[in-house]
Amino acid sequence: MAARPLIVAIDGPAGAGKSTVSKILARRLNFALVDTGAIYRCVALAARDQKIPFDDDDRLGALLDTLIISFKVEGENNHVFLGARDVSDPIRSPEISLAASQVSSRPVVRAGLLELQRRLALAAKTGAILEGRDIGTVVFPDADLKFFLHADPTIRARRRYEELFQKGNEKTLAAVLKEQTHRDKEDTEREAAPLKAADDAVLIDSSSMPLSEVVSQLEQTVRAALAKHA
Ligand code: DC
Repeated sequence: MAARPLIVAIDGPAGAGKSTVSKILARRLNFALVDTGAIYRCVALAARDQKIPFDDDDRLGALLDTLIISFKVEGENNHVFLGARDVSDPIRSPEISLAASQVSSRPVVRAGLLELQRRLALAAKTGAILEGRDIGTVVFPDADLKFFLHADPTIRARRRYEELFQKGNEKTLAAVLKEQTHRDKEDTEREAAPLKAADDAVLIDSSSMPLSEVVSQLEQTVRAALAKHA
């Protein structure tokens, strides 16, 4: 029996396909899925609801101590709860996307969420997939497997646009691309745990590869690692 579950880090920018790939992979492998972006989004939603400015470190720090964030898989969906409230939809709004990018740049928020991310992953039976921006560099620098998923910015924006469109959001592709460029800049240029590939991460460009192929590639690698890990 291995001492801890197999830890798989999947990092990359918004729209690279991390969420889709992580969700399918976790289901196929029966692994826990820790969507760390959703955790930052919960903090942003709670801060917005309580009218806490996104750069007020003292109040953000105090807020973290009051939040109970959890996940519940139901069929195809990974629901996110803030206390007893299912916030899966409200945390995905464009407003909260921008707010999440801002609160996630605060070192007090990043430090405060480290333990939760590690705890959720280590509670898994066989393995856990963590998707985010700094999993392979900060949260689990000793992850068993690290992948960095990226894609051409226009292709990423188009994927996000299609997703929003299906939900009834009427933003233009140009507006989605502009917002994404802004978020990419904030995520990569911030001082605290910026978005970057770990030196030992496997880089995967999903620009011209169907996500089903990305899943197959990752599944093969994870299964091989799992066989050695057991
Ligand atoms: O993956 P996402 O779009 O749901 O992430 C929301 C925001 O949270 C995004 O702007 C980057 C930030 N984030 C982060 O800084 N570190 C992580 N591990 C995950 C997300």
